[in-house]
Amino acid sequence: MIRSPQSDEEWNHYYDLRYRVLREPWQQARGSERNEGDAQAEHFAYFNGAEIIGVGRLDVMRPDQCQIRFMAVDPRYQGTGIGKALMLHMEDIAWKHGAEEVILHAREIALPFYKSLNYTVLEKSHLLFDEIQHYLMSKQYAK
Ligand SMILES: CC(C)(COP(=O)(O)OP(=O)(O)OC[C@H]1O[C@@H](n2cnc3c(N)ncnc32)[C@H](O)[C@@H]1OP(=O)(O)O)[C@@H](O)C(=O)NCCC(=O)NCCS
Repeated sequence: MIRSPQSDEEWNHYYDLRYRVLREPWQQARGSERNEGDAQAEHFAYFNGAEIIGVGRLDVMRPDQCQIRFMAVDPRYQGTGIGKALMLHMEDIAWKHGAEEVILHAREIALPFYKSLNYTVLEKSHLLFDEIQHYLMSKQYAK
């Protein structure tokens, strides 16, 4: 089931998964998994019973554009369709908001994942922690 975290415990699990997948392997400090955009964003967690095994964030950038950020799946469940389910769920909400386009900054290692979901690379973007190359990708609403 995909929904937003609700209790304090669920929010802690949500940010903990983000931290463990996207920050801890690069020795980043606790807290670095959060940013100021978290207050306004929509947050989605994939629940396996009470356990959160996948997370993603949806930002409305403009009336016609949303951005997906902080996608992370528990390593024990990667490659089992959790990331795809989260992406399709968030895209559906983006289209319902009236977005014509969803953009994201993909880590190089995740390019095949986003390509399989029909995102195309627009340009090379930032380098995170001096080593993780990102690529700006986009998907247009299919009318
Ligand atoms: C990238 C990530 C979010 C993908 O989620 P996932 O649950 O592992 O991916 P899924 O199992 O849903 O894969 C969905 C599709 O992408 C494809 N795919 C995923 N990873 C792939 C890879 N490395 N190479 C080729 N195809 C890949 C799958 O084959 C699948 O295609 P299908 O629907 O035709 O079978 C997840 O692996 C993850 O958290 N990785 C580490 C953190 C990270 O890199 N996050 C992204 C930051 S931009």
